[in-house]
Parts: sequence; C-alpha cells; structure tokens
Amino acid sequence: MRVLSGIQPSGPFHWGNYFGAIRQYVELQDQAAEAYYFIANLHALNTVRDRDLLRQYTLNGAIDLLALGLNPEKAVLFVQSDVPEVSELCWLLLTGTPMGLLERCVSYKDKIAKGLKADAGLFTYPVLQAADILAYDSNVVPVGEDQIQHIEVCRDIAGSFNHHFGETFVMPKAKVLDASAKVPGLDGEKMSKSYNNTLAVFDDVKAQRKQIMRITTDSRPMEEPKNHEGDVLFDLYKLVATESQIADMGALYARGGFGYGEVKKALADAAEAFYATARERRADWAARPDDVRDVLKAGAAKARAKAAATLARAQAACGAKGY
Ligand code: ADP
Ligand code: TRP
Repeated sequence: MRVLSGIQPSGPFHWGNYFGAIRQYVELQDQAAEAYYFIANLHALNTVRDRDLLRQYTLNGAIDLLALGLNPEKAVLFVQSDVPEVSELCWLLLTGTPMGLLERCVSYKDKIAKGLKADAGLFTYPVLQAADILAYDSNVVPVGEDQIQHIEVCRDIAGSFNHHFGETFVMPKAKVLDASAKVPGLDGEKMSKSYNNTLAVFDDVKAQRKQIMRITTDSRPMEEPKNHEGDVLFDLYKLVATESQIADMGALYARGGFGYGEVKKALADAAEAFYATARERRADWAARPDDVRDVLKAGAAKARAKAAATLARAQAACGAKGY
C-alpha cells in the first residue's frame, strides 16, 4: 500500500482537519509500505494571496503535522511546490480533462452559485490534486468526506489517460474514517476555515476555553433529559474524551438536571488533556524551525525522485518525450 495525502496551509489546522484527515495520516504511516504527506501550498495560493502569510502557514503546517505525530522516519513529509514535476504532470492531465467534469466540482460550483467570480486556479484545482496523487503511484488517499469527489475526478482522469495512452497511472482510492468524516463546527455546520466556526488544534488553551464557553446552545430547561444525538457539544466531546468520560456524559444527558456550562467545561478540560502531548511536541519543533526545514528538504528530495519517474512515464506514454 502506498499512501498519499495533502493538506492546504490556508490557515491554522482545526479539529476537523485532525479528526477527518491528519489522524489517519499518523495511523497509516505505520501500516503503509510508503507514505507521502505534503503541505499543499500551491492549492492554498488560490485563497491566501499574502506571501508572508503563505510562507508562515506553510512552515506552521509542517510543524503542526510533526507535532500531531507524523514521523519523518516513517513518512515522507514535504511541501507541494518543492516538487515541480507535479505541476508539469498537471499540464499533461489538463489536456484531455473535459470542462464538464470540472464544472461539476463542488468548490467551483459553490463559488459560481454565490455569484462570485472564480479564477482558472480554482476551476482546475482538482486536476492539480489528481497530479499530486498520480505522481506518487498512490493507491490509498486518506481524506475527509468533502474530498471524495476530488478523488473520483482523479480516478476519471487517470482512467481516461490509461485508456487513451495505455496503462500509465495507478488507480487511487479514497479512505474516509466513518466516525469523524464530518466534524461539526461551533455553529453545528461542518467545521471549516471558510465558515469561521473552527476550533484550532493549537490555539492558546485559555482562548480555546473561552471559545468553547461561548458556543450557542438551546435554552432547554435544566431538568429535562436530552437526546445527545446530533448535539454539537456532545459530538465534539466524543472526539476528545475517554470512553468512560463519554459514557458518563451520555448518562448525564439521559438523566437531565445539568447545565450546558458543565458540559462546556468538561469539553474544554478533555480537549486540553487530549492535545497536551502534541502541544509539547509542537513547542519543541517550533523552537527549531531550521530542523523542520531540513525535514521538508529531505522529504522533497525523496518525493521528487518518485514524481520524476512517473512524469517521465507519462511523457513517454503521450509522446511528449522521445521525438
Ligand atoms: P477547510 O474546509 O477548513 O478549508 P481543508 O479543505 O483544508 O479544510 O481540509 C483538509 C483536510 O481536512 C481534508 O482531508 C478534509 O476532508 C478534512 N476536513 C476538513 N474539515 C473537516 C471536517 N469538518 N470534518 C472532517 N474532515 C474535515
Ligand atoms: N484539496 C485538498 C483539501 O483541500 C488538499 C489536497 C491537495 C489533497 N492535493 C491533494 C488531498 C492530494 C489529497 C490528495 O483538503
């Protein structure tokens, strides 16, 4: 099994990123023969148009991944733009990609539906993602639910290239964790940087506690038992609390006679404990940014070697090499 995934450095990573994607990266680095993970800074360039911010988010993204358990001895960690072969492969894939396939992609469609202007970068975003995946002959792509469509597009593109030019690319498959495929945000909608409803993984502990205490809840009388299904506080608590804490909280909801303040405090406590080790690891890496850059440089060298071989194969297959 060869695993690959990318994450955009378009802001600080949030609980949805961790439970939907990053947690799987860490689990899979032990199971896969090879694992490639990268910071998708070229994708982020669609939304982050400030060079200093993009640089800062890119390095911080790598630090966050290392803090959350990515081990550079087991996984290849790199920055997308350090592998220019992928952008070249993207061009080969763009030729032959039907407009209709991209017009159906949600990120583009949503923007147009809101009456906003989209640029060519957003429109062709799934093709760059396909190049990311195909360049490393990946067969498993761990992602959150919202990325499934992009993996399907990648399969379509790979399939039609293979059909037209002969077997060139490995067919990838998305891997989604059911339980946390969609982490709710503070407003109950999907947690997302674009909705301003996130809990950052590495926020200051006190600031995060305040944010949790401000989550809006219904004005249920305190005596009434409450069904915890679909309750945002309970759903978030389930992610960071221990089995026995979850069982106790479930019983409290069923019994009633509690205030949401109590639940919020328990949630903030559980979150603090859950991320404590990662927070310590983060402080350690953040104090050594040059070591992080070295990890990324070594990762890029390995990634480039693999991507160059795939690019050469694709160029030969379509006649862009060997005239
Ligand atoms: P955002 O929506 O905040 O911009 P990204 O699109 O950068 O997040 O997502 C990075 C990864 O995290 C993807 O694999 C995505 O599926 C996953 N992810 C993002 N938000 C959530 C969520 N609320 N629940 C589960 N997974 C998520
Ligand atoms: N589009 C992905 C996201 O927003 C990031 C990404 C870029 C990616 N290239 C990828 C994910 C390749 C998986 C595989 O989350």
